This record gives sequence, C-alpha cells and structure tokens, in this order.
Amino acid sequence: MNAKPEKFIIDGLRLDGRRPDELRPLKISAGVLKRADGSCYLELGANKVMAAVYGPRQVHPRHMQDATKAIVRYRYNMASFSVGDRKRPGPDRRSIEISKVCRDAFQPVVIKERHPRLAIDVFVEVLQAGAGTRTAGINAASVALADAGIAMKSLVASCAVGKVDDTLVLDLMKEEDNYGQADMPIAVIPTTGEITLLQMDGHLTRDEFGTGFKMAMEGCQKIHEAQKEALAKCYQMKDDGGEQVGE
Ligand code: CDP
Repeated sequence: MNAKPEKFIIDGLRLDGRRPDELRPLKISAGVLKRADGSCYLELGANKVMAAVYGPRQVHPRHMQDATKAIVRYRYNMASFSVGDRKRPGPDRRSIEISKVCRDAFQPVVIKERHPRLAIDVFVEVLQAGAGTRTAGINAASVALADAGIAMKSLVASCAVGKVDDTLVLDLMKEEDNYGQADMPIAVIPTTGEITLLQMDGHLTRDEFGTGFKMAMEGCQKIHEAQKEALAKCYQMKDDGGEQVGE
C-alpha cells in the first residue's frame, strides 16, 4: 500500500494535479466483446474494468425464475493481478457486498417485466484497481446493458465524493480513498436525479454532505455524457458496417 502523504492538497491542487471538483480522465468503449450480448471497457484514472452482459436468457438454477419478471444478477470480481498485493481469487465479503449494492443500483432502471422467467447477467471484471472500482464498474455495466439492448428507463451513472485535508474532493484517487477523511460513492439516474446507491465511509458534516452530494451529482452528469457518446460511437460503427473494437 502507498504511504500516507503528508498533504493531499498543495496550492489548491490534488496529488495528481486535479482541482477538487475534477474527475479523473475517463475513457469508455462500448461493444468490445464478441461473445457477450453487450459489453463495455472503461478506464477511470488508474481503474481498468470490463463489463459483459448476457441475456435475457434462461435462468439456471430454474427455481430462481420469477414468473412475472426477469431477474438481474451482477457479479463484481477483482482479478488477482488488479491490486498491488495479489488478491486471493474468488468471492470474498467485499466483492459479495459490492455485487449486491451494484445490482440494487440497476433495479429501478431495468424494465424487468419485459422478460418474465429470464435472467439478465452482468459481469464486471476489475483488471486494474485504483480506487472507485464499484463506481467504474457501474458506469461500465450501464453501457454494457444498453449495448445488449436491455430495455431500461435510463442509464445509471456513478462517482464518489470524499474529503481530504478538510476539503471536499470529487472522484477519489488511491491515496485519497485509503487515507482520506470520508468517501461517499453514489449512483444516480441522471435523467431524474433518483439515487440508486449511496454509501459512506468516514465523516461529513451536514453542510459537507449537501455540497459533496451536489459535486457528485455533477460528476455523474459528466459521466452520463461520456456514456452516451460511447454508445453513439458504437452504434455509428455498427451502422457503418465497421468492425467492433476488439474484433
Ligand atoms: O474500489 P472501491 O473504492 O469501490 O472500493 P474500496 O473497498 O473502497 O477499495 C478502494 C481501493 O482499495 C480499490 O479500488 C483498490 O485500489 C484498493 N484495494 C486493494 O488494493 N486490495 C483489495 N483487496 C481491495 C481494494
């Protein structure tokens, strides 16, 4: 693990040169996997994540079927090589919790009634982790679901806000996440402002919560624009008969 920096903000700028309200560089590519129904590769700062969506498809085991609507399953997994100290392969408490809260973040947007008895499976693989992997995963999963043609009321966008050196900062990097005073990831339906995930580590005052929440919402709006652009680019390539990325 990196050592705790003495200061997180010097002359108004963060350790990676960002202003407090700036997102890390974001790159999104939709439709990158041939065998998945929908997919997305996303980089946010040091994070590199791949999302693949399969479905709507038969549910196995069958007793998990819901006769009235589709079920949404979400598996968040960190590759063992994605972090500094090798991560033990397989699910652990953290990845089970993240899978659950991320799945819940999509429940209000996926129109499940369209596909009774079927499953929509979302897989998020973290290839390189650098703080904020759950938010990066949600942003990628959202694009992959749209790429798969799953009926949704909207995309979901996600980012975190936190506090370091008594200053609110958007989209925490590794040192800020590990040693900061607070970390609050949110996911939002950008078209309505409805919150579908909100978690918090550390402490924020009521005022800081309000201001930080607004910063995170603005961050989500920017991510939403990038998600739409990535989907438009992917559809344009398909329309032009061009090859998908990765083919
Ligand atoms: O990634 P996210 O911020 O959503 O979740 P976290 O549990 O707050 O983890 C913060 C960061 O710690 C991750 O993004 C990784 O960079 C790092 N981490 C790690 O190095 N090894 C782990 N087993 C888990 C997390």
